[in-house]
Order: sequence, then structure tokens, then C-alpha cells
Amino acid sequence: MRRLLPDVADDVEAAAAYADPERGRHDGRPWVLVNMITSLDGAVAVDQRSGGLGGPADQHVFMTLRDLADTILVGAGTARAERYGPPRKPGQRIAVVTRSAVLDWSTPLFTSGAGLIVTTTTAPAVPVESVRSGTDEVDLLGVLAQLPGDVVLCEGGPSLNGELLAVDAIDEWCLTLSPLLVGGDAGRAARSPAANVEGFRLVHLLEADGFLFVRAVRHRTT
Ligand SMILES: NC(=O)c1ccc[n+]([C@@H]2O[C@H](COP(=O)([O-])OP(=O)(O)OC[C@H]3O[C@@H](n4cnc5c(N)ncnc54)[C@H](OP(=O)(O)O)[C@@H]3O)[C@@H](O)[C@H]2O)c1
Repeated sequence: MRRLLPDVADDVEAAAAYADPERGRHDGRPWVLVNMITSLDGAVAVDQRSGGLGGPADQHVFMTLRDLADTILVGAGTARAERYGPPRKPGQRIAVVTRSAVLDWSTPLFTSGAGLIVTTTTAPAVPVESVRSGTDEVDLLGVLAQLPGDVVLCEGGPSLNGELLAVDAIDEWCLTLSPLLVGGDAGRAARSPAANVEGFRLVHLLEADGFLFVRAVRHRTT
């Protein structure tokens, strides 16, 4: 893997490139890092799944970022589409955001005990541990405040990313650009009813096997 920005370097280790002491709790909640992959034309999925966009280099960065996180946050749409299983890192939880609380409780994510449900205070009872905030919609800031640890890694999907963006809860955006054009009608990496324009500072640009890895951190002026 090589670094193209802010300076050029060969043989860069992903773990070293992504290490950052700045990550930590602030404003009563963990640091929120979002990691997504898109094609060159912005598609987040091929046939409803992101796997068709990736490769070994992307998987390596994906696992490196997982190792940084205390909790992984994922929308129910993604957990269903990508058939989420338990994480590799001992003690790490995967928190699935859902309004319906309709999930397959027999999957290894939940039978392993690693799965956690993030939902509203009015959603039905669930057979696993849950974190609840908000009545009609999940109050994401309220939920984040209840999550332990320093770092939450959000792995999408676009709807959840858009909602995090709307409440200015994204501290770091890691984007893999896959060297593919895919067309089709797959969505973009963050989607919400209204635009929420927020500034980020480019931290690095890495390259491996033709994949580009952008890392940007929220630039807050107040
Ligand atoms: N390229 C990538 O890196 C990447 C990453 C992730 C996903 N994806 C792709 O993106 C697609 C799925 O994305 P998506 O946007 O449709 O789904 P999503 O964001 O993963 O999940 C949406 C669902 O999450 C729940 N949810 C989200 N915010 C909520 C809130 N504030 N309150 C209550 N519930 C909330 C709802 O679940 P309920 O329906 O259970 O109520 C909602 O239907 C898949 O095709 C997947 O492969 C790509």
C-alpha cells in the first residue's frame, strides 16, 4: 500500500496509516468513523451488496478499521443485505439500528451474543440486549451517548449515514474508491431527505491494487 497524500511513501502499513490519537469520546459520545466503498461512478452496491466492489486491499483496510472500534454500528437494511455475522475482535459488539425490530434472531450475529439492537423506546421487545432512544425514530445522538468506549465504526448503509450526517455526528469519513464503473441504480454513500453540507479535512489518500483510500476528518469551526 502506498501513500499519495499528504506525502508520497511506499510500503505503508494500514494499521499505522489509520492510527490517530485524536479519536476519543467528545460531547458525551464516542468518536464516529464511517467506512464505505463506492465504485468510480458512486455506486455503493452491485446486486444489492457491496462485496462486488471490493478486493483484498479493501478487505485489509476494512478489518484494520474494525480493529479500531469498540462498537460497530450498522443499519438494519445493511445487516440484512450483507448477512452480518459476529465480529472477529473479542468483546466488540455490532449494534443494528432498526425501527421495525424485524430481524432474524437465529443468525450467528445474535446467537453469538455479539449483536445489539438500537431502536426506539416504543419498538417491540427484542430477544437480545437493546439500546433505546427516541419514540418514532431512533434518536441517534441519544443512542451514541449510551454506547461505551471511544470509537464507533459505522458501516452504513446510506440511510443511516445520512441520518448521522443530519445530526452532525460523523467525525471521520473513510471512503474506498473501487476501480470500477457499475452503472445501475445503486445509491450513493449517504442519503437523506434534505442536504446537510458539512466540511471535512483530507487526512490521507492511500492506494493499493488500483483502489484509492480517502480518509477525512470533520472540520468543525465552532
Ligand atoms: N458500499 C458500502 O460500503 C456499503 C455499506 C453499507 C451498505 N451498503 C449497501 O447499502 C444498502 C442498504 O442501505 P440502506 O440505506 O437501504 O439501509 P441501511 O441504512 O443499512 O438501513 C436502513 C434501515 O435502518 C433502520 N434505521 C436507520 N436509521 C434509523 C432511525 N433513525 N430510526 C430507526 N430505524 C433506523 C431502519 O430499519 P428497519 O427497516 O428495520 O426499521 C431502516 O430501514 C445495501 O444494498 C448494502 O449492500 C453498501
